[in-house]
Amino acid sequence: MSNTISNTISNTISNTISHTILFVDDEKPILKALQRLFRKTKYQILIANSGEEGIKQLKNCKSPVSLIVSDQKMPVMSGSQFLEQAKKISPDSFRFLLTGYSDMNAVTDAINKGEIHRYFTKPWNDNDLKLQVQQTLKQYELIHENKQLTALTKQQNHQLFKISKILDKKVKNATKILNQKNKELETNLFNMVNLLGSLVEMHIPYLTGHGERVSKYAKEIAHVMQLSAKEIGNIEIAGILHDIGKIGFTVNLIENEKHKWSDQENKIYLTHPETGSTIIQFIEQLEDVANLILCHHENLDGSGFPNNLSEEKIPIGSKIIAVANAYDKISNLKIDADKYVQAYLKKDGYTKDELNDDQLRQQGAILHLKQYAFTWYDPDVVKAFLESLKKQGVFSKDERKVKLAELKEGMILTRHLYTINKRFLLPFNTFLTESYIDKLKAIHVNDPIENIFCQSKRA
Ligand SMILES: [Fe+2]
Repeated sequence: MSNTISNTISNTISNTISHTILFVDDEKPILKALQRLFRKTKYQILIANSGEEGIKQLKNCKSPVSLIVSDQKMPVMSGSQFLEQAKKISPDSFRFLLTGYSDMNAVTDAINKGEIHRYFTKPWNDNDLKLQVQQTLKQYELIHENKQLTALTKQQNHQLFKISKILDKKVKNATKILNQKNKELETNLFNMVNLLGSLVEMHIPYLTGHGERVSKYAKEIAHVMQLSAKEIGNIEIAGILHDIGKIGFTVNLIENEKHKWSDQENKIYLTHPETGSTIIQFIEQLEDVANLILCHHENLDGSGFPNNLSEEKIPIGSKIIAVANAYDKISNLKIDADKYVQAYLKKDGYTKDELNDDQLRQQGAILHLKQYAFTWYDPDVVKAFLESLKKQGVFSKDERKVKLAELKEGMILTRHLYTINKRFLLPFNTFLTESYIDKLKAIHVNDPIENIFCQSKRA
């Protein structure tokens, strides 16, 4: 753009100004002498034998007059009177006064009023007058160029301002579209993650809700530990998908306890973090999540699987998932819950009458986390989790049952969605978009949908 502007400037500011000079004198020989003096120059010469004639010339001249040279002593209108009017008609013209010594009062007055730029006494010196005319015309050119440049700069500033306004508008529109697209992509990714999460839970029904709960606990821990927004987002997704590798588990692996598994099945169990990580790693946005899934069964002391990582080699997100996972397994999935509940009762001297079953399992799970805080689990993560449990909202879902007509974009399904004919439609945690709601309404016409449970937005 700067080149374009420079070119425009050099094209616009031309040095080829053709000068016009007006000589005014009531004595014809003087006018002839002046004409002779400038005959061999490239200037256009105009002459007038009175102030009135000079004014007519100025008004009728098609090109601007660069210099006006006037005699002072003329009948009817004096030189200074003429130049005073000439200044109004052609303010950019330079003005010289030719005068005798006796007119010095008139000259002083004209100079003081700013009507003339130079004066010459008669008789003048030819060379001196020519030199002064040349210098004055050079000055006229500089002023003229400066004016053109100022006008051009003003015009270009105006154009630049218009261009910047257009660019600004375009950038704003593009940003708006980009934000919309990003929001759509984020929503699509979130829904795809929940769909994947629901696949494993449909395959292994007792895991229903496990991924969602682990995700919520893990997110709360990550907030308490003040991790970055990106880390928290990855941990939230890893929580939902951490057991996606169980998708290929056999019925025996799913339905029976560990001691009933064959050696082969035990091996398959130990590979589920790698299987899950492999499934996820090819999704570009989920590469970091894949690593969190890979390491979610590693223990702080190196006794975990699949790679026996320890301490700092385990990603913080995986340490967080491990704690959230252990808590949910005992308190909600009730895996080995009795063992930890008994340990809790024995340790703190409670009886079963003092706490309900849910509270007992929660206390048993907390005891488990505390017992293994320096061997399996990172103590900082356990501490952050215990802190997060004190906050309200970890266990509540803000769930409500709504009618199809009440669905609005932005609502989140809190349970899987089925038709009355038990046709599966959407998994829990699906972020509802306008398009989803329209499709549900279309399905509802032939196969009604009931029991829609939602929360208004993501917790
Ligand atoms: Fe797992």
